[in-house]
Amino acid sequence: MASVPSLAASVQQRVADALSAALPEAGAADPLLRRSDRADFQANGMLALAKKLKGNPRELAAKVVDAIGQDGLLQEIEVSGPGFLNITIADRAITETLAARAADDRLGVPLKENPGVTVIDYAQPNVAKEMHVGHLRSAVIGDALRHMLDFTGEKTVGRHHIGDWGTQFGMLIQYLIENPGELAPAADVDGEQAMSNLNRVYKASRAVFDSDEAFKERARKRVVALQSGDKETLDLWQRFVDESKVYFYSVFEKLDMEIRDDEIVGESAYNDMMAETARLLEESGVAVRSEGALVVFFDEIRGKDDQPVPLIVQKADGGFGYAASDLSAIRNRVFDLNATTLLYVVDVRQSLHFRMVFETARRAGWLKDGVTAHNMGYGTVLGADGKPFKTREGETVRLEDLLDEAVERATAVVREKGEPIGLTDQEIAENGAQVGIGAVKYADLSTSPSRDYKFDLDQMVSLNGDTSVYLQYAYARIRSIFRKAGDARPAAHPELALAPAERALGLHLDQFGETVIEAAGSYEPHKVAAYLYGLASLFTTFYDQCPVLKAEGGPEQVANRLFLCELTARTLHQGMALLGIRTPERL
Ligand code: ARG
Repeated sequence: MASVPSLAASVQQRVADALSAALPEAGAADPLLRRSDRADFQANGMLALAKKLKGNPRELAAKVVDAIGQDGLLQEIEVSGPGFLNITIADRAITETLAARAADDRLGVPLKENPGVTVIDYAQPNVAKEMHVGHLRSAVIGDALRHMLDFTGEKTVGRHHIGDWGTQFGMLIQYLIENPGELAPAADVDGEQAMSNLNRVYKASRAVFDSDEAFKERARKRVVALQSGDKETLDLWQRFVDESKVYFYSVFEKLDMEIRDDEIVGESAYNDMMAETARLLEESGVAVRSEGALVVFFDEIRGKDDQPVPLIVQKADGGFGYAASDLSAIRNRVFDLNATTLLYVVDVRQSLHFRMVFETARRAGWLKDGVTAHNMGYGTVLGADGKPFKTREGETVRLEDLLDEAVERATAVVREKGEPIGLTDQEIAENGAQVGIGAVKYADLSTSPSRDYKFDLDQMVSLNGDTSVYLQYAYARIRSIFRKAGDARPAAHPELALAPAERALGLHLDQFGETVIEAAGSYEPHKVAAYLYGLASLFTTFYDQCPVLKAEGGPEQVANRLFLCELTARTLHQGMALLGIRTPERL
């Protein structure tokens, strides 16, 4: 593994060095380098600096040019406008840098020097309930962040904090006791049957619960039995959990997402810690008794009528809820899993809950220095009409129906294009699934997570515009070039001059690592998506302007262009994999 500094980073360093040589009193000043249309890069830093030191920016810029000296990296550097530097990289340096990337499995992207442990809480549906589009977002964003963090060398531990505890289980279990046989054993059902069984039991038990006072009372007693660990009750509870997991796994599989059983650690897993969590908070004075409940108050967090909103650690009846399990989970994650970062991919509507939980943990000393907690609250999924996503009848849309429809539409697109190039039915079906699921993931990931996003299948599977299908086609097109290449092989030829479209593609390829590291650091998968879209667009231009197999410059140029094609394909493939999206070979 050899990490390759990017051209942008090398130029930045060179200009910064020249700047401090030309102007020692400037110290370590930032040359403010950015990509430019006029040259490859523009450095603007001289303007602010000259202003600060009351000098002339053009003169300062000229001094920097003198100090920079010439070597193979720069082809041209000139002062322009009020005191910018326009910088053009040598063609040879571009090709050589790309060749160094190509020689490395990781495309020359460095690993973090001091990786930490990030515990990432994502994909957390609720037992005995249907998954909805909100759960989809957490799963898709969480999975992508995890791939991105892993790629930078961070150690990640997944936690699927499923909703597997709470008073509703009293009702469900009591119903099952009185109506045995309503839930087929988990081993005998598939995901769809599991969910439809659970739905039936849920609805039926709810109906009795709402209409029959005596049942309601029995259900309440059942909650107590569950909490006190009664064996029969726990066994039945486990059946609901197991049945739900069959369903969850079927959805995750459809989503082409790997979920590990040992990382499904739901609310109930912290039961044994709850009492201690409460005791520690009470003893340290972080939590106080109020009307029998154990609560934490915050000056800065107020609700209606300016009343303080407390976090309830323990209810007056002694029961523990959502907050207590999250607080216990923090203790487990920090002290047992040695997390340095706690990342929660949870709907933005829970951000107040997390603010209070984090603040409580901080006061208790569980979130100590060197441990950061972050809720990546994501926005709501909207329908194509811009309103919260519902069926025409106003019901929440079943996640599986949605995924099935995406795959169906994608398969139609794939079939239309694929039949003429001789794809078999099996290939069409496989590719249709990869394109359909990719489309759903990409639409989500290409929007900034904090924003709401529109679930619009027509737009998602469109071949034009910022869609995963467009990226997948760019990849497949490159693969098809290689199938037609005959004996020609990719090889870098640094001695060749590059066409403008080759330079633009090459400079963008060189930015992959920096983009991923930045996006992983700020938890912004949409920056990777935007990068990949830019890459596919630049490739399209290159492909239009620069014949590859029929390059006019002879076999060396064919080889060099194939080399650019190959590095583009590898970068697309790696980048899409970070987003959890596949790249079919033939489309
Ligand atoms: N199961 C919860 C829900 O569906 C999300 C859990 C989020 N994670 C957590 N640690 N609270 O709303």
